[in-house]
Parts: sequence; C-alpha cells; structure tokens
Amino acid sequence: MPAVVAAIDQGTTSTRCLLFDHDARIVAMEQLEHRQYLPRPGWVEHDPAEIWSNTRTVLAGAVARAECRPGDVAAIGITNQRETTVVWDRTTGEPIAPAIVWQDTRTQSICDDLAVDGGVGRYRERVGLPLATYFAGPKVRWLLEHVDGARARAEAGELLMGTIDSWLVWNLSGGLHVTDATNASRTMLMDLDTLDWAPDIAADLGIPVAMLPQIRSSSEVYAQVRERGPLAGVPIAGILGDQQAATFGQACLQRGEAKNTYGTGNFLLLNTGTERVLSQNGLLTTVCYALPGQPPVYALEGSIAVTGSLVQWLRDNLGLIESAPEVETLAASVEDNGGAYFVPAFSGLFAPHWRPDARGAIVGLTRYVNRGHLARAALEATAFQTREVIEAMNADAAVDLRSLKVDGGMVGNELLMQFQADLLDVPVVRPVVTETTALGAAYAAGLAVGFWSSTEEIRANWAADREWRPAMGAAQREELYARWKKAVTRTLDWV
Ligand code: G3P
Repeated sequence: MPAVVAAIDQGTTSTRCLLFDHDARIVAMEQLEHRQYLPRPGWVEHDPAEIWSNTRTVLAGAVARAECRPGDVAAIGITNQRETTVVWDRTTGEPIAPAIVWQDTRTQSICDDLAVDGGVGRYRERVGLPLATYFAGPKVRWLLEHVDGARARAEAGELLMGTIDSWLVWNLSGGLHVTDATNASRTMLMDLDTLDWAPDIAADLGIPVAMLPQIRSSSEVYAQVRERGPLAGVPIAGILGDQQAATFGQACLQRGEAKNTYGTGNFLLLNTGTERVLSQNGLLTTVCYALPGQPPVYALEGSIAVTGSLVQWLRDNLGLIESAPEVETLAASVEDNGGAYFVPAFSGLFAPHWRPDARGAIVGLTRYVNRGHLARAALEATAFQTREVIEAMNADAAVDLRSLKVDGGMVGNELLMQFQADLLDVPVVRPVVTETTALGAAYAAGLAVGFWSSTEEIRANWAADREWRPAMGAAQREELYARWKKAVTRTLDWV
C-alpha cells in the first residue's frame, strides 16, 4: 500500500508540495515563492517557466524529505491559482508571453467592448460569471491581440491555452492538454450545464476552440508522471481550482456548507449541491467539484481580490512592517482603528460590487492615526469585505450561516479571527488541518486511485481545532460596518 498522496498547490505567490498520509496528516512540505512582475499599474504577471521549475523543485524536495521510494506515492493531485492564463506553443512548449495573473486588469477595454451588447451580465446565465478582467477568456484574447503573430499561430493550431493546472499537467505528463471542470468554470468559456466549451462565446472572444484543453472531472487518472526518479509513472489523478480544493478539503460536501479562505484574496464558497444558483447579489456561480459518474456539484462564490496581499503591500510597498505576522502585533498596539478605514480596491472591487472603476483608499484620517491604526484598518478590511460577501450569500441562497469554517494563511491571526466573529455575529471555526487547499487536491487524487475509498472518509477526517465566538455588541458592530460601507463609496468612479 503506497504511503502518501502528493498535492501540488500552485498559488499566486508560491508553489508548494505537501505529502499527506491516509489520516490526512502532513508528512512533508516544501515551498518556493516566485517573482511577481508588476510592469504597469494594474498589470500582474508570472513567469510560467519559473512556476514549472519551482513545481519540479518542491515535488522533488518533499519526496526527498519524506525519503519516499518508488511506489510510496499513490497519486498526485494539482490545485492552482485560478484564472491565471498561459498560452504556449504546442510543439516546443514555449510560452508566448508571461502568464497574465487573475488580479491583472489590462483586459478592461475588452470586457467593456463585449458588454456593449448585453451588458456585463451578457453570459452570466450560461457561465455564471459577469464580464470582468478577473477571468481567463479575456486574457487569452488580449494575448492573441498583442503578441506578435499569435493570432495567426493560434488559428493555424500551433498554440494552446491553459490555466495553471493545464500548464502543469502538460509539463508533468509530457504533453497531455486537459483541465478540470472547476478551472474551466473560471474561463467564461464553459457552459455550466454541459461542462463543455461554449463555441459561440469563444468565437465572440476570438479564441479558436482548438486552443482549449479537454475538460475532465476533478478526480480521475489523467496521465502518469513522465520524469525519472521516485515519481516516475505516478498517476496524476486530481485537479481542482484552489478555492474549490479548499472547499473539498474542508469537507463542505453537502448543500449549505461553506468555507472562507484567507489567502492573497478571500474566497467564500457555499456548496449549493447539484442546483446551480444564479446570483442576484454579485456572487459567482461556479463548479464546486465534478466527480466521475456523478452530476456536478455547484457553488456560489464571493471572491475578494485583496486581503492577505494588503499585508504584503504594507510590508513590501510601504515598509510598515518587516514580516507579515508583525501586522498583528502592530495592530494590537492600539485599541481600535482610530477612525481609519482602508478599502484595498487595488484591482477594482470584486464581489459583491464588481466595480472595475474603484481604486484603493484610506479614509477617516486625522493626526491621531498612527501605524498601529493603519495596520488594524488593513486587517479589519478583510473582515468587512467578508461580511459584505456573506450578506450577499444569505440574500441569494436564503441560508443563514450558523458558523464559518475558515482556512488560509491569515487564520493564525487571532485579532483578525476574533474581529471576524464579532463582525459576523457567528462563531468562526478553524480545522486541525488548515492546509485544506492542498488536502482537497490530495483527496481528489487519492479517491481516484482508491487511496481513500469514499467522501465519507473525508468527512471523518475533518476536526475542529479552534473556535472564536462573537463578543461585540450589536450597536458597535453595526456602527463599524456602516462606516465601512461609507468608506467603500469613496473608492468608486475613480478610473
Ligand atoms: O481566483 C484566484 C484564486 O484562485 C487565487 O488564490 O490562494 O493563490 O491567492 P490564491
């Protein structure tokens, strides 16, 4: 019996490999950050070659750390930053340009042009998404329009596109071009009912369908690892977009169960079962997971572009702190936000506003405000934005949240988690294994090869570690939230 399943978690800022045993315990982990290229305001790029090279390094590193021998790794699951788009040459494997990252807003005019006919909701009914710079389809169009010769090469069948999952499977397998339904549901090109590409939408965007990967389930053997070494021949058997993977890893497997991940951005997903709920309140409809031989499970999603990356920004762009965890100490040096509100609309505002014209603002400043207040306002912004999404979710799905399962890098931050519980007036619950994204990908792969026998085992493995209970009075809570909403209005109509 193989000992572990490997999960590759290719995120916005780093690439990690985690090995999990049958009880979902972490056996080994390796992580490497990659460079963020910010060549112009609103542009965010990654180097696909660096991402692939880092993936190989962390895979090899984790396997070496756990002293795995051939046969020890049952399967590999892949989870990835979603929407980030790569276009590469089918023969040489060379990317034609840097990857355009999900946060990048360069495709605004493409979205505006498409919205002339039918508005931003033009495709929403079929793909679950508004026309927005966030999604992969407009990014592909931009690359075909702006990279020399790209359109002709695409039309001649020489180019392939993929989100990062496709890019990694293609490289790991030596040329298989696939994606899973969760990642495909972030392109704006997939019909949510058929789980197949919508050729007319691809045509509207000027994207040849032949460039697109084959859409597969989230849990099946797609291919084997081609390289030599302890991973040679190991099945690549699971693919889930990172937020869907976290939902799976948090065992939100029943309608009405939700999780909130605190990463670069925040992503709250509510499992809506086999029913796809179309949002009336600015949320996305997305595939939650697609298991072979079963109807797809859908989710409502509230995506917030900037939460944890605001802390990085305080560190890297302002030098306010030296390391990310320091933000908590600094925020705890003051009693409250001192009247300051920080709306980090760096990529416009995502859910529930979808306002590309917004830009970041700090409001409520007086001479009284110091570094501590700014750190606190930055942390509070995450909790305020989450409350906006939850209010939209409650309105859409008519489920009143009783507690919130959380995960991601920021859930070690006590001050933030307590403030979150206070602001939502529901308990916030952190599981024992907070690496839910990687775990979800491992589960998808492990289920496909029989390492885990059923989703019941996933449920049985989930356990709560820590709970924060609301302790703030209603008057204070609503006063703070009303001020936040006022601050948001100050960021609109900027661009
Ligand atoms: O949709 C974007 C999301 O998948 C990015 O996640 O964790 O890499 O910031 P993360």
